[in-house]
Amino acid sequence: MLSEKMRDALNTQINREIYSAYLYLSMSAYSTYIGLKGFANWFMVQYHEEMSHAMKLYDYVNDHGNHVRLMAIDEPPTVFESPLDMFEKTLAHEKKVTAYINELVDLAIEERDHATGIFLQWFVTEQIEEESNDNEIIARLKLIGDDGNGLLMLDKELATRAFVPPAAE
Ligand code: FEO
Repeated sequence: MLSEKMRDALNTQINREIYSAYLYLSMSAYSTYIGLKGFANWFMVQYHEEMSHAMKLYDYVNDHGNHVRLMAIDEPPTVFESPLDMFEKTLAHEKKVTAYINELVDLAIEERDHATGIFLQWFVTEQIEEESNDNEIIARLKLIGDDGNGLLMLDKELATRAFVPPAAE
């Protein structure tokens, strides 16, 4: 069994991961709307990744005999200024998620909950990768600037991203 504090914090994180999924699904929808199918694919893969993060936490809470409590999901933004704006918002969001994961790790240490501490290490590593991916795409979008051909080339590349379920990584 998890402590009540730990259980509530993990339940809150499930909600945050589902909000992340919702945010990226909204970015995928907007990318499709403005004709950038590769960006739409990239954000759709990100949506699936976030749902898999939520489910990893969901299974962990369940596996400890605790109650998963689902909460209301906030409405994400639906309109964005540009592809760069979407990725800058993605990075800013991921930085927040990284801070939340670090808080969860701190709580696991406080509660002397070693199992949850080990479980959370996967998320710590995942956040490094997510921020690094976002930084790379932001740098490329800045280089592209107003060059439409450059943007279409990046769109083509982002179309190749495929979802790999965490268990198969
Ligand atoms: Fe689930 Fe993007 O962190």
